Amino acid sequence: MNKKTDNWIIPEGATPTELDKKMLHAQSMGYLVPSRDLIKTSEQIEGIRRSGVVNTGVLDLVEHEIHEGMSTLDIDKLVYKYTKDHGAIPASLGYEGFPASCCTSINEVVCHGIPSADEILEEGDIINVDCTTILDGYYADASRMFIIGKTTKKKEKLVRVAKECLEIGMKAVRPFGFVNDIGRAIEPWAVKNGFSVVRDLAGHGVGLDFHEEPDVDHFAQRKRGMMLVPGMVFTIEPMINMGTHEVFEDEDDGWTIVTEDELPSAQWEHTFLLTEQGLEILTH
Ligand code: MF3
Ligand code: CO
Ligand code: CO
Repeated sequence: MNKKTDNWIIPEGATPTELDKKMLHAQSMGYLVPSRDLIKTSEQIEGIRRSGVVNTGVLDLVEHEIHEGMSTLDIDKLVYKYTKDHGAIPASLGYEGFPASCCTSINEVVCHGIPSADEILEEGDIINVDCTTILDGYYADASRMFIIGKTTKKKEKLVRVAKECLEIGMKAVRPFGFVNDIGRAIEPWAVKNGFSVVRDLAGHGVGLDFHEEPDVDHFAQRKRGMMLVPGMVFTIEPMINMGTHEVFEDEDDGWTIVTEDELPSAQWEHTFLLTEQGLEILTH
């Protein structure tokens, strides 16, 4: 059964636009439509775009500087300084108690790894660096994988396929399509390559806040999920595992997400704007 909701509400006194009419109709047909305030104004879009420019600068810097022998805390310091120097704030710092300016997730760590002076990058490591930037109140969120020196063929393939999964997810998005088109496109590609898709963590709406609606799952489901409407801004960030899709949270730090079988995991993330024409990447 389709979920009945009243997400799309026209403010009192406002003249309904063409989009309003379309959404009210979709809603009356039983589709799960976004709430009206998930559609960003052009001013908000410009703000998120500017935040995306700083975010990309941060990750470009990390890409330039990352090397064997440095600690993940060294990466964190680069992220903090660059972000501050560009008038922005690292969103993760102090977010629900998270203690650092980015997440650094090595090998079997899926995401939310905490940078540390004791954690030294070694030849063969694969690492995800995830940065979220706040500029003038606007959020942009992206992550990349880095291979330290030379690694195994299998880990190289994991990093490559994870990136392809992001690209395949992007291509599945169309205006007035549905959020779960993304996972339905991604999962078969991961599985075909002998890998699995993490289910416990999702992409998300972003822009005015760190995590907004909707959740963007990366695995295939029967239900369609929320309609994707031009003006929405959200991430796609598939986490692809070499072995089982199952993950657990480190009990000691309450953050680090690790694969159940301790086999490696890889992830790439961008923040996107959906337009009438399709997806636009705001973080590159
Ligand atoms: N940047 C992550 C994401 O893609 C969230 C990290 S939350 C933190 O959604 F607190 F761990 F930084
Ligand atoms: Co994100
Ligand atoms: Co992120």
